[in-house]
Amino acid sequence: MTTAASNNSVPAAAVREISRRRTFAIISHPDAGKTTLTEKLLLYGGAIGLAGSVTSKKEQQSTSSDWMAMEKERGISVSSTVLQFEYNACCVNLLDTPGHHDFSEDTYRVLSAVDAAVMVIDAGKGIEAQTLKLFDVCRRRGVPIFVFINKMDRPSRPPLELLDELETVLKLAPAPVNWPLGDGPRFRGVFDRQKGEVNLFEKTAHGAFKAPLEVAGIDDETVRASLDEDLYETVTSELEMIDGLTEPLDIEKVIAGEQMPIYFGSAMNNFGVQNMLESFLDLAPAPTGRFNNGEMVAPTTNNFSGFVFKIQANMNPRHRDRAVFIRIVSGVFERDMQVVDQRTGKKVRLANAQKLFGQGRETLDTAYAGDVLALIGNYNFLIGDTLTSDPKVTYDEMPRFTPECFAYILNNDTAAIKRYRSGMEQLMKEGVAQAYTVHGSSQAVPMLGAVGPLQFEVLRARLESEYNVPTRLETPPWSVVQWFKENEPDTNRREQDPPKVHLPSGAAIARDQDNNWVVLLSSKYMVSVLHDRNEHLTFR
Ligand code: G4P
Repeated sequence: MTTAASNNSVPAAAVREISRRRTFAIISHPDAGKTTLTEKLLLYGGAIGLAGSVTSKKEQQSTSSDWMAMEKERGISVSSTVLQFEYNACCVNLLDTPGHHDFSEDTYRVLSAVDAAVMVIDAGKGIEAQTLKLFDVCRRRGVPIFVFINKMDRPSRPPLELLDELETVLKLAPAPVNWPLGDGPRFRGVFDRQKGEVNLFEKTAHGAFKAPLEVAGIDDETVRASLDEDLYETVTSELEMIDGLTEPLDIEKVIAGEQMPIYFGSAMNNFGVQNMLESFLDLAPAPTGRFNNGEMVAPTTNNFSGFVFKIQANMNPRHRDRAVFIRIVSGVFERDMQVVDQRTGKKVRLANAQKLFGQGRETLDTAYAGDVLALIGNYNFLIGDTLTSDPKVTYDEMPRFTPECFAYILNNDTAAIKRYRSGMEQLMKEGVAQAYTVHGSSQAVPMLGAVGPLQFEVLRARLESEYNVPTRLETPPWSVVQWFKENEPDTNRREQDPPKVHLPSGAAIARDQDNNWVVLLSSKYMVSVLHDRNEHLTFR
């Protein structure tokens, strides 16, 4: 990041503001402890006074970051929230990602708006399916990853084995910042390798308050006394081994995506959380720029720019308003400023930007690169739109993901047809699913595609609760989509006619929502059949 103020740069005070921002997301396989860790971080950030009160999904009404009834019912996080808090000298923006077994594009999109990610791993399980998917998205986007190995108070896999797995599967060099002293009932704390200190662990009642810490060197009598002799020996020999086996922590390598800092702890017991937070804020990058036509736009550039990564309608059912979430890439936001939506070319006044905190809201007057703006109102933005005061800047941050499941969501109540249409239109604008028009289909509505079936459930639940439209779901016979281009476009073909494709049995031809022709297949085994039969086409 550029730190010096120049003609093209924001004033020095804004440079300082930008450089103290840390914008990140916590990602994990469900149940690894993302919610618990989020709440403990908020506790340290002073955003909530008592953690533990919000972790128990079974007993509690909601967590600070929940909005939707569906989340409460199921204990899954469907919507993403942005939480901002101050910690030491940093202004922290924590973006909440949905964490269900199922996957949604929402998660991918949130990851386009962060500069780093904390990946929570269950020490008893190691890398799980979802961890890997999320990791892949982060890596493709060049997002540096910090790993929190959680639940050390439970019997865990040997820490060396966990390190080995992380290195082999993720192909990143692990750099343990701390090292656990035992696990399960014998978990006694961690050795901070940076500071050369042991943090002894004392359990608090359900992790409700900040965990007290006793700090000492590894040779200290208190440390020796609190560890059984065999455990002490294991730990000291492990520490020697990792000194030889792992590279020293190198922030340049972390940012380049070659190394990942590793922290051990127990979110529920509040252990290792504060150390992780402090180290993370120290190491994590300040806001990073985004590319515009191959050129990096620095966050300190004077011109305001940002992109829409999430739209959430009906946050307040009484007002039918929408929240549009914008990651500010460069410059300073000021209330009522005018920008151009690059997609439509229209000028828009950014009034009513709010700071959201669960159900709470506060008007926002100023925000800086790295922050997330939540604009409330009837803005006509779409996901991926660039909003800027510089006409030369357009970001292309929002990739479309290949759907892995398809469905028709059909209106069950003829009297609700208007509401069904407007609900569908609105929710499709939010990007809840992708629409496909199947060529020659008798269905009056588009087929929907999603990366996970949860997206359909969310869509149906929202049509029901926000638009009062009961629906039913029908599953079409396709599960794979293939985009293609003709090697030699047929210039005589009419726009509305599909290109010539030799379809395997059960296949159909359709258009995606950007009007591209696609082939729908009944199974992935048909992909090679399709390719073999159509050498005049290039498949993407
Ligand atoms: P998620 O958001 O990644 O899905 O995970 P979440 O934080 O909800 O944690 C999943 C379960 O793991 C919760 O238990 C939570 O209390 C527990 N947990 C989180 N961190 C730790 C830890 O450090 N040690 C231990 N032993 N457990 C931990 P639950 O039974 O599903 O819910 P609850 O009733 O306890 O809230």
